Order: sequence, then C-alpha cells, then structure tokens
Amino acid sequence: MKPSKVVKNPRAKHDFKGRTCSITGVGSCVPERVLTNFDLEKIVETTDEWIVSRTGIKQRRIAAEKQFTSDLGAEAARRAMKKAGVTAEQIDLIIVATITPDMPFPATACVVQHKIGAHRAAAFDLEAACSGFIYGLEVGQQFIMSRTYETVLVIGAEKLSSIIDWKDRNTCVLFGDGAGAAILQNRANSHGLLTACMGADGSKAGLLSMPGGGSACPATVDSVTGRLHFLRMDGKETFKNAVNAMCTAAREVLQRCELDISQIKCVIPHQANRRIIDAVADRLGAKPEQLFVNLEKYGNTSAASVAIALDEAVESGAVQRGDLVLLVAFGAGLTWGAAVIEW
Ligand code: UT7
Repeated sequence: MKPSKVVKNPRAKHDFKGRTCSITGVGSCVPERVLTNFDLEKIVETTDEWIVSRTGIKQRRIAAEKQFTSDLGAEAARRAMKKAGVTAEQIDLIIVATITPDMPFPATACVVQHKIGAHRAAAFDLEAACSGFIYGLEVGQQFIMSRTYETVLVIGAEKLSSIIDWKDRNTCVLFGDGAGAAILQNRANSHGLLTACMGADGSKAGLLSMPGGGSACPATVDSVTGRLHFLRMDGKETFKNAVNAMCTAAREVLQRCELDISQIKCVIPHQANRRIIDAVADRLGAKPEQLFVNLEKYGNTSAASVAIALDEAVESGAVQRGDLVLLVAFGAGLTWGAAVIEW
C-alpha cells in the first residue's frame, strides 16, 4: 500500500505512532428477490411514477422467509474478508449495526460470529438506524487506534421487510433488505479512515420509530392489532431533519481534515431519497459526478445503505486507491454521522 501523501490526518496530532485505521476490504450481499414499483402497485394504492418522482427508487430487494439479517450480514462479511485476505480466526471484534436484529437478544453479531466461524471474536450489536454503519466505523476505529484489537469487522445489515407495514403506502415503498461489511485493520502510515463524527437528537425520536416490542410496549394482542410492531415515519419532518443534519455532519468532518468538498472524489450518502441526496449535495457544493447513488436498485436499506454503496463504488471503480471519500448518513434516533476516508 502506498503511503498517504495528500491529506492532513487529524489523528496525526495525537500520539498514535503512525497507526492508521485502514479499510482493507469491503463486501455486500442483497437478497435475490426483486420487488419493483409495479409489483407494489398491486399491493397498495401507489404508482411507479409517484415513487420514482418523490424518491428515485425503482425497485428493492426482499429477503426470503428463512433468510435473516444475520445471513445477509454473514455473507457480506465473507466477501469483505475475502477481499481483505483475512481469515475468520484473525477477527478480534464483530460489530453489527442493525435495527432489524434476528431477535431482541442475543445480539445478531453473536449469530454472525458463529455463522462465519470467527470464534475468537468479541461481538455486539450497535443500534443507530441508518447512521449505524458510520457509527460502527467510528467505534471500530477506536479499538484499532487504541491497540486493543488488530482486526475489526463492521457490518450494516437489515431485513426491513420484517418490520414494514405492507398496508401503509407512506412507508412500504421506501425500504429494502441487504447488508454491507468492512474489515478495519492497522496499516501504519498508510491510507485509512481520517476522521468520523457522530450525532444524535433523542427529542425527535418519535419521527421515525417502531413503538412495539420493547420494554415500553411489550408484545400483546392489542399491540399487534394496533400495528405497533411496524416502522412508522413522519416523512416530511424526517426529510427536513435529514438534509440539515447530513450537511452539518459533512461540513464538520471536512473542516477537521481541512478539506474542501472539491477535493472529495466520491460522496457516498445514505440512500433514502434522491431528493435528500440532491439537496445535501447542492448545499455542500458537490457536483453530480461526485455523488454515488444506487437507491434506484435497493431503496433505503438503513444501516446497510452506506456499506452497500461503498462496496459498489469500489467495485465499479468510482473509488480507487488514494481517492478521498466522504460518507454521510442520517437516521432514526435521530442520529447522524459522517466520515472522511483516504481510500
Ligand atoms: O432513512 C431514514 C431517513 N428517511 C428519510 O429520510 C425519508 C424522509 N422522507 C421522505 O423521503 C419523503 O418525505 C417521502 C418520500 C416519505 C414522502 O415524500 P413527500 O414529498 O414528503 O410526500 P408527502 O408525505 O407530502 O405526501 C404527499 C402526498 C400525500 O397525499 P395528499 O395528502 O397530498 O393527498 C400522500 O398521501 O403523496 C401521498 N403519498 C403517496 N401517493 C402515492 C404518500 N405515499 C404515497 C405513495 N404513493 N406511496
């Protein structure tokens, strides 16, 4: 790997003795089944024209009945491990970012640990909704930089189809299933994650939530008939908050690295709505050719969205070694996050 030459790394100010948290491999996995907007026209009162014009989404992937979040996450992990040249035995820690765990407990990360045979690894889930993968990168990075671990597997994985209300046209057209994964390792004095930021505002938790199933509202006959175990969203308010928070987070990480947006080769935003992505790009001054967008194929896959897009950006050549990449996301919580990577 070539030594980093371009960017001021804010972490260099601290005494990390050349330690760098590098993403040495990424991978993704989406289910085979495709659900198009035309299929949805037969389920709820909607049209392909409405969905495309309001969101940019044309289709999404839906997991099979017996295909769980852990299955998608484990397969994405295997692909990332293969590209990084890492064996299951080398993995020290597994972080799974998800809002659709296989079950409330144990952690889906533990299920993934068993499925991929990473028996040495510690494992836990992280819940930051659509910001989960960026939160996971930041948390994983801390373990690498502090010399606690050498190899961390970060996964963003979702089976959102399991919590979608297929009678609610306001939400069911927006989401899809999938997973993405990244291997984090120390690569001294080399390329890597330059900085990341995370934020949250719990006062707006009600904008996007699944009210049922936790200690506040355990499962009862009433909670099921009241449709409380499905995702609910105030779309308009969420939209406004998303644009503001993503811009703030992106500006913060750019400023920390003393970078101008024009120096970023590829902006990889959370894939929720094309209009949100365009509004954020417009405010940041990013050009259309800097944006990586794949939401027309997958819809909003929450914690998996940025991870899948990063993998596809690398595979397609949109991101190459040495390029500066900006990741930025927003989700329920509310949560938000951004990261700059020198790839
Ligand atoms: O991943 C976490 C972050 N998530 C997001 O950031 C999502 C943020 N929100 C959004 O992307 C947008 O707000 C939506 C795509 C959810 C909605 O777009 P909008 O332009 O804000 O539409 P709206 O909610 O104002 O709805 C406009 C109209 C309404 O009809 P009326 O009341 O004006 O007669 C809706 O009932 O569109 C109607 N509508 C639909 N029509 C056809 C809502 N959903 C549909 C639908 N098909 N699927």
